[in-house]
Amino acid sequence: MLFKIENLNLIYDIGKEVQTYALRNINLSLEGNRLIGIMGPSGSGKSSLLYSLAGLKIPSSGTVSYKNMKLNELSVSKSTELRRKDFGFIFQRHFLIDYMTVLDNVLTPINDNSTKAKEKAVALLKKLGIEHLANKKPHQLSGGQRQKVAIARALINDPKVIFGDEITASLDHASAREVMKILDEYTSNALVIVVTHDASILENADDIINIWDGVITSIENKEGKDNNESAVDL
Ligand SMILES: Nc1ncnc2c1ncn2[C@@H]1O[C@H](COP(=O)(O)OP(=O)(O)O)[C@@H](O)[C@H]1O
Ligand SMILES: [Mg+2]
Repeated sequence: MLFKIENLNLIYDIGKEVQTYALRNINLSLEGNRLIGIMGPSGSGKSSLLYSLAGLKIPSSGTVSYKNMKLNELSVSKSTELRRKDFGFIFQRHFLIDYMTVLDNVLTPINDNSTKAKEKAVALLKKLGIEHLANKKPHQLSGGQRQKVAIARALINDPKVIFGDEITASLDHASAREVMKILDEYTSNALVIVVTHDASILENADDIINIWDGVITSIENKEGKDNNESAVDL
């Protein structure tokens, strides 16, 4: 298993009068090379689960393991290194740097300005159908184009896992489908985990994890996938 979550609880504001149980006793195993959706209403704990998997939220109790490494036991430098090498992130807001060109934005995670790196960035932009925008600034692009730039930036380090949080929320339906198609194609190389409250973008998901009030209520395996061989387990 690529990820294993055991007895995970995430409580915000521990020690204060009001505590929020964002995640309650989560047990989950995830296998690679799939598109996995995390679905639930606003406030149900989707982002908390996603960032717990990425090691960006520290469990209040329980463990999250990636490749048999317990994320909360890694040193800060090791976990930073892991995220830089193995993980790619795409957010609802694209967080592109507006004074930099599209090409330079794509290169930011790898801190490499060599010709080889630039060629790789251009090749990614080409694959996403936006290489003609390489020298534009983010504000000159449409919302869908900006999100594609954010995807290219997430893919520049050839991540083994892509984390997406409400990445289609600010896109029209056509752009949203296009973005999801690109990520679905990338599952031949990586595990793609996408958080959303919009079921319509998860048509191609291999598994859908339903979450409600911090609890995983069900996991749907899509047609054609043998439940006994499921890559997602409670
Ligand atoms: N930094 C925080 N401090 C306190 N409570 C938080 C914080 N982040 C999220 N929460 C609460 O935790 C619960 C789950 O939030 P979240 O994981 O963001 O849900 P979702 O992504 O499904 O909207 C919500 O009740 C939310 O208000
Ligand atoms: Mg959220």
